[in-house]
Amino acid sequence: MQFQMHMAGRVFFGQGASAKVKDLADSLGAKRVVVVTDKTMQELGVAEKIASFVRGTGREVFIFDEVEPEPSVETTDKAAELAREKSCDLVVGLGGGSSMDVAKAVSVLVTNEGSAAKYQGLGLVKKPGVPKIMIPTTAGTGSEVTFTAVLIRRSDGVKGGINDDKLYPDYSLLDPELTVSMPPYVTASTGMDALAHALEAYTSRQASPFSDMFAEEAMVRVGRWLRVATWNGSDMEARSEMMLASFYGGVALANAGVGACHALAYPLGGMFGVSHGVANALLLPYVARFNSLAAPAKYAKAAKLLSGISYGNLGIHEVALACSEILDEMVMDLELPNTLSKLEVGIKEEHFEEMAIKAMGVSRPMENNPRKMDLADCVKIYREAME
Ligand SMILES: [Fe+2]
Repeated sequence: MQFQMHMAGRVFFGQGASAKVKDLADSLGAKRVVVVTDKTMQELGVAEKIASFVRGTGREVFIFDEVEPEPSVETTDKAAELAREKSCDLVVGLGGGSSMDVAKAVSVLVTNEGSAAKYQGLGLVKKPGVPKIMIPTTAGTGSEVTFTAVLIRRSDGVKGGINDDKLYPDYSLLDPELTVSMPPYVTASTGMDALAHALEAYTSRQASPFSDMFAEEAMVRVGRWLRVATWNGSDMEARSEMMLASFYGGVALANAGVGACHALAYPLGGMFGVSHGVANALLLPYVARFNSLAAPAKYAKAAKLLSGISYGNLGIHEVALACSEILDEMVMDLELPNTLSKLEVGIKEEHFEEMAIKAMGVSRPMENNPRKMDLADCVKIYREAME
């Protein structure tokens, strides 16, 4: 057995944890702070609330609220331009994965010249960035504890990650109260993304006893609480448990990577603008079915953790296959689209080849996948997921 482990810097968890941002800005001696967020957070008044925590004697706060879903290199460059121009010495990422990914990139773009596009790849960032604090408002992406910023190039629709240790957040403030405003559809899809992180890390070729521990705890919580958080959004216990699940899923993902579901989901976002969570939720049952034959012990355990059912004397392959059915039921209970045609974004059979080529190009998740997948397999899974 051999593995290494890493985590984000310091994590504060609990209702009201986001107010900590003031103490942190004080202790870091920050003078000029940029809050990277989106229009929704601005409209809900959350951006201003966080900014008011940070604003102190002699401290200026700038709010950049232009982050879009599936954030682009162009938007990131624009945010970085603001941070450079104002000589910001602290970046706060507030929102879902998109805002946090852009914030992480901005932190290193303050100290490294040029466009974000220059750093898409693995380990290309030269200098450490300015300190960064992440405050998630969704329970799903795990971006608050990972070293990745996924940005889409508008020019060719290709998604690429800046993957670098220098992107690990220095602080993460996990405040379940901030997730209460999420509508059911966002709660459900981001929650399924958290589950995809846990399950794909759990079955990854890079899985370790360390990542397994976090993945298992995340799956138990998503299985038990995601439906409640979605359909009874003011239930604080459900919100807290989902925030914890998302955090644990993020730790599992940071240490073991994701698999083929994430790779297959990429072109749905890049080519058709389907949100990351929706794309992963849709594909996860199909990928689980494909994979469970190759890693039955892990999928059988996942089925038990997600459902709370012991499955008595059933054989390992039967229980492993049940995992795919449990996921399918979850997607239906959450009223998320469960076929590509239901997405209504114009995906047709003739697109599958190009989508498969793009998915195969997402090489690291594909390499992590427990069952080897080739171009024909990708097309087959898209075809199965069509109707
Ligand atoms: Fe994800």
